[in-house]
Amino acid sequence: MCIAVRGIVALVAVAWLVPGSALAEGDAANGETLAKTHCQRCHVVSPENRYAGIESTPSFMMLSSRDDWSERYSTFFDRPPHPVFARVPGVPRRTNIPSHVAEFEVTLEEIDDLLAYARTLRKE
Ligand code: HEC
Repeated sequence: MCIAVRGIVALVAVAWLVPGSALAEGDAANGETLAKTHCQRCHVVSPENRYAGIESTPSFMMLSSRDDWSERYSTFFDRPPHPVFARVPGVPRRTNIPSHVAEFEVTLEEIDDLLAYARTLRKE
């Protein structure tokens, strides 16, 4: 592989590994749709219904306000309670325990979109 091609491959790899970097910009509008489709049944995902959440489940506004927000969103599927019901193609299941709630699937690309949407909830 020539050096230029290696450079591009390295750049794309870094962009994929560092959510929020210029090349990994997701589609915030699609992220909002995904959040309302998959996450809203447990989380408050937008200021529209700020007080409608299940008490112990953090709102996306609160999660987005944290310093390590992008780390938390980009690895949410590996953080309890999600490993039981969130599926990501290419990521092995952490457990085979039958899910107590409906499962859903999001791709790594869609997680970039969710991240782009979560960024819009930050007060900067
Ligand atoms: C079936 C309910 C449910 C669904 C659906 C759900 N979550 Fe959660 N999520 C939770 C609960 C409960 C917590 C709090 C866990 C805790 O405090 O230990 C949580 C916490 C989180 C956290 C913080 C994790 C941490 O370790 O700080 C993130 C980020 C998150 N959810 C993202 C998402 C995203 C993105 C979706 C949709 C793609 C989603 N969740 C769908 C129930 C859910």
